[in-house]
This record gives sequence, structure tokens and C-alpha cells, in this order.
Amino acid sequence: MSSNRQDFRKRESPEMFDRIAPTYDLVNRLLSFGLDTAWRKKVGYLLPKADDLKLLDLATGTADLIIGLCETCPQISSAVGIDLSKNMLEVGQKKVDNRGWQSKIRLEAGDAMSLEWDDNLFEAVTMSFGIRNVPDAEKTLKEVYRVLKPAGKALILEFSIPSNIFIRLGHLFYLRHVLPMVGALFSGDYQAYRYLNTTIEHFPYGDDFTKLMTEAGFSFVNIHPLTFGVATLYEGIR
Ligand SMILES: C[S@@+](CC[C@H](N)C(=O)[O-])C[C@H]1O[C@@H](n2cnc3c(N)ncnc32)[C@H](O)[C@@H]1O
Repeated sequence: MSSNRQDFRKRESPEMFDRIAPTYDLVNRLLSFGLDTAWRKKVGYLLPKADDLKLLDLATGTADLIIGLCETCPQISSAVGIDLSKNMLEVGQKKVDNRGWQSKIRLEAGDAMSLEWDDNLFEAVTMSFGIRNVPDAEKTLKEVYRVLKPAGKALILEFSIPSNIFIRLGHLFYLRHVLPMVGALFSGDYQAYRYLNTTIEHFPYGDDFTKLMTEAGFSFVNIHPLTFGVATLYEGIR
């Protein structure tokens, strides 16, 4: 990735998410027509089934993924979510408290590119719509690999671009023209949703992203395109 793009993300990302945190969940549901909830559920289906699963969720944001996983996957014994945006974490913490998950879920400030944990600690590491936002995806994937136990699983959900030409053209029109307008209308922040479509179009997906996972050390890397490839779930084993 070019250093310009990395610098841009480093400067913009957490502050931008601080700004849009109060409306983040609502705008997500609207812009994805509710599909983001189904995409997150798919992460749960692919979590390892063994009991006493310790989960780390990176760029946890408003905690939708980590809460959804704890609600549907009883094998999770403890879950920790980290993020750099204080306001996103605050929204997430309220949801964790309201739903009574405080004993299982811990949210804290932390950088996905530099994890505070020792090697070999978690059975699963998840990240939804986060890897595109970190300044160095390769470094983050190496950190994920490091903190996973041997045979542990990484599940990374991210936007992608559909391969079918007609669906792709329609989707690009939506990304470039509809999404920034609707995002701006409900969040009051046009810039944030312009950033969203720009990063989606430029971030590696499909085979290019699996290459990054393989280079970080992962084996059995699998791609699961969702909704014609509008999003993709990647899984890899340490
Ligand atoms: C699009 S949101 C995704 C939030 C959540 N995972 C979801 O599925 O809705 C991206 C999140 O990445 C966080 N983020 C950006 N850079 C980060 C970093 N280096 N470490 C941890 N979180 C980061 C942002 O603060 C933001 O909350």
C-alpha cells in the first residue's frame, strides 16, 4: 500500500469514527438494507465449535459483531473487543451493559496493528469492516496470526466489489453516488461516507486479500463472497 494512503487513514480514521459514532448503527442498517446483520451472523457460523473459546474482536466499533457472536455462540467463554475510537467504544459499551453481557464481553482502547497480548492466546480473532481502515493491513494480519493459538481461526469480514459486470456497475453507482448522499443525510458527515466508498474501491479483495493472509502465515485460507460479492468473509487457520 502506498505511504500516502496509509498516512491518510492514520490521520482520518479514529477521529472520523468518533464523529459519526452516534449515528453509525442506524446508517449501517440503512446503507446495507439490513444485510450487515446477516453478514455478521455468517461469522458466527464459522467460529470454531470447541468449548471455552476465547475471542478477540479487532476494530470492534459499536460492538455489533462481538455482541451478536456472544448471543449466538455459547462456546465463547470470554470476548474482548478493541478499537481506537473512544466514541464508538462508548456506544458499544452502552449496548453491552443494556443487554447484560458485561461478565463475558470486555471493550477497551487498543490498536489492531500493535496488540498488547502475548503470543498464542485466542482460539479466534474476528474483525468486521475494520481491516480496510487500519493504516497497515499486513502488519495487522501478522498481529492476528501471532496472538492466535495454533489451529486458531481468523475471520475477517470486509466489503468487496462484485465480479459480475452488471452487478458491479450497479454497485459502483450506488457506492459513488447514493451512499455518500444517504450517509451525509443521516450522519451530517459527507466526508466520512465519501471516505467509505473510496476505501472500498481501493482496498484489496478476493484473491488479492487471501494473498495477504497467506503471506502473514495463515493456512487453509477460504473466501466466502456474500450478497454477490458486495462483502466477503475470509477465514484462515494459524
Ligand atoms: C467501519 S468501523 C467497523 C466497526 C465494527 N467492527 C462493525 O462491524 O461495525 C471501523 C472501525 O475501525 C476502527 N479502527 C480504525 N483503525 C483502527 C486501529 N488501528 N485499531 C483499532 N481500531 C481501529 C475505527 O475506530 C472504527 O470503529
